[in-house]
Amino acid sequence: MRAYACVVAVLFAAALATAQQPAASETVDVNKVATHIADTIGALHPTVPPTATPSPVTTQPAATTTPAPTTTPATINFTVPVALANSTQADLLQYGTGKYTGDSEPPTANSTIARFVVIGDVGRQAPAEASVGMPQCSTAFAGDNNLQGGLQQNETALLMEQVCKIVGGCSFVLNTGDNFYECGVYPNDYSRFQSDWINVYQTPFTPTIAPLPWFNVIGNHDIVINGSVETEVKFDTSGASPVNAASPLPSVTKLWNAPAPYYSKDYSINGVTIRGIVLDASPFITAYNNPTNKYHSGYYVTNHNQAYEQAQIAFLRNALATSTATYNFVSAHYPLFGGATQYGANGSAYPGEFNFWADVLASINSADKKVVTYFNGHDHSLTLGDPTTNAAQPQAPVPTVWNGYITYQTSGAGSWGEPADSCNPSLYSNGGNGGFIIVTATSAQWRSDYYTLGSTYPQCTVTSYADKRPPTFSPNCALGKPNACCSVNGGAGCYR
Ligand SMILES: *[C@@H]1O[C@H](CO)[C@@H](O)[C@H](O)[C@H]1NC(C)=O
Ligand SMILES: *[C@@H]1O[C@H](CO)[C@@H](O)[C@H](O)[C@H]1NC(C)=O
Ligand SMILES: *[C@@H]1O[C@H](CO)[C@@H](O)[C@H](O)[C@H]1NC(C)=O
Ligand SMILES: *[C@@H]1O[C@H](CO)[C@@H](O)[C@H](O)[C@H]1NC(C)=O
Ligand SMILES: *[C@@H]1O[C@H](CO)[C@@H](O)[C@H](O)[C@H]1NC(C)=O
Ligand SMILES: *[C@@H]1O[C@H](CO)[C@@H](O)[C@H](O)[C@H]1NC(C)=O
Repeated sequence: MRAYACVVAVLFAAALATAQQPAASETVDVNKVATHIADTIGALHPTVPPTATPSPVTTQPAATTTPAPTTTPATINFTVPVALANSTQADLLQYGTGKYTGDSEPPTANSTIARFVVIGDVGRQAPAEASVGMPQCSTAFAGDNNLQGGLQQNETALLMEQVCKIVGGCSFVLNTGDNFYECGVYPNDYSRFQSDWINVYQTPFTPTIAPLPWFNVIGNHDIVINGSVETEVKFDTSGASPVNAASPLPSVTKLWNAPAPYYSKDYSINGVTIRGIVLDASPFITAYNNPTNKYHSGYYVTNHNQAYEQAQIAFLRNALATSTATYNFVSAHYPLFGGATQYGANGSAYPGEFNFWADVLASINSADKKVVTYFNGHDHSLTLGDPTTNAAQPQAPVPTVWNGYITYQTSGAGSWGEPADSCNPSLYSNGGNGGFIIVTATSAQWRSDYYTLGSTYPQCTVTSYADKRPPTFSPNCALGKPNACCSVNGGAGCYR
């Protein structure tokens, strides 16, 4: 299943054309831009050390039905990459359509603040065939396989480095899933942690972001055929890491956090407490419940059951009920609002046997306003969903009334900004650019800034408030909305 029909393609096609042109009323402070570009280029050789590593308070790895591994992994000596490909540095500011729009606050340094990166759909360095060696994973197979080879992953990593340096350091990375294209990692094969993760984010060119711990979500591309979730979990510090202690990066696995396919993590950063809850949603994508679908893997079949669904819902509800954190966020790989497609719903193109998505939505959009943001990947774009309407997404899990607090944010442009990969109502959507979101939290405010290749200024800022009044949006968000999902490929849809 590679193409998803989109009912609103025509409606948004015109809007896309508009969004890609500079807005007529836009005013640009040329001096500010010139200074900023100089800063940006200077940031390629950063000297400021990262600050404020998070202090984990508790980790609650969840029980899983994943079978235990049976073979012992080979010891691997991970190496420090010499440099990012040279051309990517020069290209950085030329890629993408991000620009200074004047409405968001320019990034300013504050090294004593809670701040983290949300990025997704990364892991696109290795040739596709290297993934698992299956025809479905090869470059000959239609779909996004033919776009293997890095694309904008290095560039997006360099932008992340620059922005984190400019703002005075980031504390951790939330990775919203699809960690290794095309077909995940082969069981006990750790080579792609080197090629697709270490080589990109832990390099001499990325000193600010290199020490950051990553908290990982499992996506559909992590479970294809023999794609091994176990191996991604084992690479976590809690697992039996195959890293040789004598290798140059012996502690590297400590930065990779996937203690279980679903889990929660408490952060306490510069006085702000955050509970992050990660769900393993792929087994509840009913479109994959077809033996000819490449996501219908052993992992899917094993976990596509009501017990696993209910265990996660109970875990989610308990993690929220017991949380005393200032902010709780929830992350799963798939969009609920503002993305191109919703999944697993009754009455949709993919009728759900289970009520996983309805239960997730009810739990996070509850009247007690416990969840500040739902972060997803999957769509290769950045979007800020419009939770006030599901008019253009009749397949949404259940029509719900927005609780007036939660925001739905897509960050799935970590290696490839797919043009117009968002068809549903969005308050912001980037188009065709690699990018990520940076969250900055204080005891009063939780702010998401959207960054996209081409600029180190935010393209959109959404602010939520600890007192739970409705969020506010910067005016420039409107410049990026909405895209015309599925106006590409002759209306056939986007591939993800
Ligand atoms: C890893 O390094 C150790 C010693 O540092 C060496 O004995 C071993 O052969 C190396 N393994 C590989 C696969 O290169
Ligand atoms: C990168 O490329 C530029 C020209 O494109 C060249 O001047 C420079 O020496 C290169 N740097 C490295 C480290 O290769
Ligand atoms: C940095 O953020 C903290 C937390 O909000 C604030 O107390 C402090 O004044 C800020 N520092 C600067 C230099 O803006
Ligand atoms: C990204 O950078 C790594 C080095 O860290 C390099 O091996 C790889 O080829 C680069 N990818 C692209 C597409 O330039
Ligand atoms: C995938 O796993 C199955 C079951 O273990 C095995 O029969 C098959 O050969 C594996 N496929 C590849 C490409 O390794
Ligand atoms: C989904 O469909 C099932 C079976 O028809 C039904 O029992 C369940 O209540 C429905 N759930 C929602 C949220 O509509």
